[in-house]
Amino acid sequence: MKTKIFKLNQIRRAAEVIKNGELVAFPTETVYGLGANVFNQDAIKKIFVAKGRPLDNPLIVHISKKEQLYRIAKIKPSREKIIEKLVDEFWPGPLAIILQKKETVPEEVTAGLNTIAIRMPNNKTALRLIDYSENPIAAPSANLSGKPSGTCFEHVFDDFNGKIAGIIKSKPCKIGIESTVIDLTTKTPVLLRPGGTDFEKLKKTLPDLVLASDKKVKRAKSPGMKYRHYSPKAKIILFEKSALSQIENYKNKLESQNKSVKVISPEKIVDFPGKLFRIFRKCDEEKIDYILISSIEERGIGLAVMNRLRKSASKIVK
Ligand code: TXA
Ligand code: MG
Repeated sequence: MKTKIFKLNQIRRAAEVIKNGELVAFPTETVYGLGANVFNQDAIKKIFVAKGRPLDNPLIVHISKKEQLYRIAKIKPSREKIIEKLVDEFWPGPLAIILQKKETVPEEVTAGLNTIAIRMPNNKTALRLIDYSENPIAAPSANLSGKPSGTCFEHVFDDFNGKIAGIIKSKPCKIGIESTVIDLTTKTPVLLRPGGTDFEKLKKTLPDLVLASDKKVKRAKSPGMKYRHYSPKAKIILFEKSALSQIENYKNKLESQNKSVKVISPEKIVDFPGKLFRIFRKCDEEKIDYILISSIEERGIGLAVMNRLRKSASKIVK
């Protein structure tokens, strides 16, 4: 398949491709998404094929107007006020909320679940694409399954050229790490995936929000979180508590075995979390064998960065 590269003044044409049941990768403020019309079952199936994504991992649905929320989700009157408050405060932005789904949404989108993850991205190109295609767009991160999320055009092109109908060429994604996912279908709201919206900020609007890792949470239900994720070809060794001297020793040992090693300081990532996935992909280009990285405090964006590091690590040194 020939992949058409759309410029920023060709979003209407990209939307025509979505309307015709094909896939278009598009920028958001977090990472690139691989989009299809949410109501077109065949188009949704193409997402899973193109990514090599397990069929039990549901997609996030992107909307451009608040009214669209009511087209795809059922909202209990008792919850309406808090949901409205949340979306008014955090949308458009890097927050996906899980609600009960409406029957009109094909079950392929939600991998058979009766719940649906929805967000309004804070990116003009994404919002226009949704508007012009006249329906919400289901989109996982635009990367081959298991690989680091695509945060710029080149990453997406590397993974999908020849496999999808189109890619919108834009600047690198502003945040560079995926959205925060919260589940509002349970009695106590649960943060399933830390991301671009800080837990601490959400707590101010949703004081009873808990982390999925919290001992009080019996069963976290984000199917995607059980898979190993975000991994470059290099093996990542995460040092949870080690001193820099220990990391240096580790490096020397590996180098004496003729391995190429890169040591990354995570402080740099906190300034711009998108660096994380970029560094991973760059290490692949440079054929690095091992990435050694130390931990950062799990506060603000640090919570999301540590989550991605743990998921991508081959080994965690405690
Ligand atoms: O920032 C983002 O969220 C990006 C951009 C493109 O919007 N999208 C993204 O999608 O990261 P994806 O598919 O890579 O990750 C979606 C996560 C997965 O862990 C999935 O299991 C979870 O959200 N998820 C989606 N629907 C769910 C549902 N109904 N219940 C529980 N978890 C759900
Ligand atoms: Mg993903």
